[in-house]
Amino acid sequence: MKIIRVSSYEELSRKAAELIAAQIILKPDCVLGLATGSTPIGTYRNLVQKYRQGELDFSEVTTFNLDEYLDLTPDHPQSYRYFMNSNLFSQVNLRSERTHVPDGCAQDPAAYGAEYDQAIRDHGGIDLQLLGIGNNGHIAFNEPCDRFVPETHVVELKESTIEANKRFFNSVEEVPTKAITLGIASIMQAKKVLLIADGKGKKDAVEKSFFGPVCPEVPASVLQLHPDLTVICNVD
Ligand code: GLP
Repeated sequence: MKIIRVSSYEELSRKAAELIAAQIILKPDCVLGLATGSTPIGTYRNLVQKYRQGELDFSEVTTFNLDEYLDLTPDHPQSYRYFMNSNLFSQVNLRSERTHVPDGCAQDPAAYGAEYDQAIRDHGGIDLQLLGIGNNGHIAFNEPCDRFVPETHVVELKESTIEANKRFFNSVEEVPTKAITLGIASIMQAKKVLLIADGKGKKDAVEKSFFGPVCPEVPASVLQLHPDLTVICNVD
C-alpha cells in the first residue's frame, strides 16, 4: 500500500489524474473502473483538460462504473449515469458503447448483476479502479456489513450514507434508499486500485480503513490486502 498525503484538493485531483493518464498512455485500450461522488470531480476535470490539450486519447478506453441508485433513470440529474456523462464521458472522446454504468432500473437486479460482473471479466478485468470512500468506510455502495459481498448486488443504504448524499437532492426523502453496487471481488480483482479521500470528515474512515483491522464493518479495510493500492489523501 502506498499512501500519498497531499495538502489540497487541487493537488489530490492533479495527482490522481496523472496516475490515470499514465495508465491510458501505457495501455490505450485499458479498462478503467470509475467512481462518482464529489471527490472525483476534480480528477475528471484534470483528465478533460489533458484531453483538450492533446495529451490523452480515450478512443480505445473502456469504462465500468461502480454503482447506481436503484430506480433512477439515466436522465435523472442525480443518477450516476448522468453524473458520468456530464463530468467526463461527454467531454472526451470516449465511445459511448464502451462506457458502462450499472442499470438501476434493471428488471431482475440479481441476473443483471451477474451479467455486469461477467462483462467486466469478458473485457479482461479492470486495469485501474478509481475509488472514493464514504464517511463510514464504504467503497462503491458496499456498506458496513457482517460479511464482504463478492458480487454485484443490491444494497440498502445506511442512514449515514443517505444523510451524506442528501446534499445532491432537494430533500432527504428524495434520496433513494437502495442502490446496485459492484461487490468486493470485482474491486479486489482490479490490477491497480487508486483511492482518493478529501476533507477532515474522511480522516476517521481513512485511519480505520488503512491502519485498523481488516473487517466487513469497515468495507474499505479489505483494500489492505490489495497488492497494488495507492491512497491519495487530503484529510489533515
Ligand atoms: C457515494 C458513492 C461512493 C463515494 C461516496 C463518497 O456513496 N457511492 O462511490 O465514494 O459517495 O462520496 P464523496 O466523494 O462525495 O464524499
